[in-house]
Amino acid sequence: MTTAFNPNAPETIVNPYPGLAELREREPMHWNPVSRAWFITRYDDIRAAFRDKRLSADRIMPFVEAQKHGKDGDEIAYLGEHISLWAVFNDPPRHTHLRGLMNKAFTTRRVEQLRADVAGIVEDLVRDWEDGQEIDFHKAFAYPLPATVIALLLGVPQQDVEHLKRWSDALAQFVLTSKTNEDKYRVAAGALREMNDYFGDFLAARRRNPGELVTDGLISASDEGDRLTAEELTASCILLLFAGHETTTQLLANGLNSLIAHPDQMEDFRANRDDRKFVDNAVEELLRFDGPSLTSPRIAADDFELHGQTARAGQRLWLWNCAANRDPSVFENPDRLDLRRSNADRHVTFGFGVHFCIGAPLARLEAQVAFPILLKHFSGFERLNETQAWSDSYVSRGMTTMPIRLHR
Ligand code: HEM
Repeated sequence: MTTAFNPNAPETIVNPYPGLAELREREPMHWNPVSRAWFITRYDDIRAAFRDKRLSADRIMPFVEAQKHGKDGDEIAYLGEHISLWAVFNDPPRHTHLRGLMNKAFTTRRVEQLRADVAGIVEDLVRDWEDGQEIDFHKAFAYPLPATVIALLLGVPQQDVEHLKRWSDALAQFVLTSKTNEDKYRVAAGALREMNDYFGDFLAARRRNPGELVTDGLISASDEGDRLTAEELTASCILLLFAGHETTTQLLANGLNSLIAHPDQMEDFRANRDDRKFVDNAVEELLRFDGPSLTSPRIAADDFELHGQTARAGQRLWLWNCAANRDPSVFENPDRLDLRRSNADRHVTFGFGVHFCIGAPLARLEAQVAFPILLKHFSGFERLNETQAWSDSYVSRGMTTMPIRLHR
């Protein structure tokens, strides 16, 4: 039995959930001929797969090896050489080494210290918005907030944020796998070259004048015991910058989009915006209901059997985080947005296992600060498009624009 599911179909890009529900129900280990990958959609299977040593997170080098002698081969080889140093694309023991050093630098304390700064940035962004004004929420808010915050955390000067955003977007065409841009390897490799130069200089300057930033933590962690090479250090900074940016944008935009579609929930949020416990849970539910994660891809390092089907060594598997988040065996009435859901935080939007998102506390903090401030200043957010323009990434779910009208 094969269920027809085309992840590239325009209606799937707008709303993947009905098709994924069918797969989860009828064919939980599904070979997808369009993507030439196995699709896993049940919650328990996905959590187990995240911990299964037969599944490798290194999906970069097999691709690079296969493509480096073809069209755009030099660009692909350059991208591979540097991006293969990112923790997220490594398995233990190298992952343990890279992640351990990032953990030392990226502490909950450092993130929590930013709470007041984040509130200040949010207030600045919305200060001039007027009653009845039309804005692109993506461009005016969801995009600049995480970029400004990650720059603050890394210690990158605010005047350089524009470059960093541009480079991150270009790199996303490779890392988040744009389906349509034919020029994506050249564009992404060009951006990565500029980022490598930029961070090389930046890290040298911080080494001369160290402070209390995440980057200083990375430098000192890498100078002690289990060292990072200069390339690994630069790659880890770029990973943090990159990962801290686009996904959080999507949490803010998708989150507001979900609230607009559920006015009763929006009003509940507004009424309880000063209740920290309510707000924290509401953000977990926004992450679960229509968060920024579509899939976490893996490669079978060994044959992997599930529900009577076998993924052969070398084949790709996509763990559909967003399908797990709507699994009715875990979440009652899963297609309903319920900001008071008692187990909302069991979502797998940040992944699971050793690669669990290192930036989860920061992404959560930004949303926990942003939504209450937006709801305090504005009584309504009116969508100006019937359907939103969703990006064509395989990995992350987000809009490319979000035109709305504001009501004070
Ligand atoms: C709502 C926002 C975010 C979402 C939905 C998200 C999602 C994810 C997911 C699903 C993974 C696991 C990938 C896998 O297993 O293949 C991951 C890993 C990672 N994330 Fe996030 N992320 C977010 C925000 C951030 C932020 C703000 C940062 C940094 C400032 C960050 C840094 C990272 C890093 C470094 C990893 C790799 C961890 C490892 O491999 O050990 N993320 N993220």
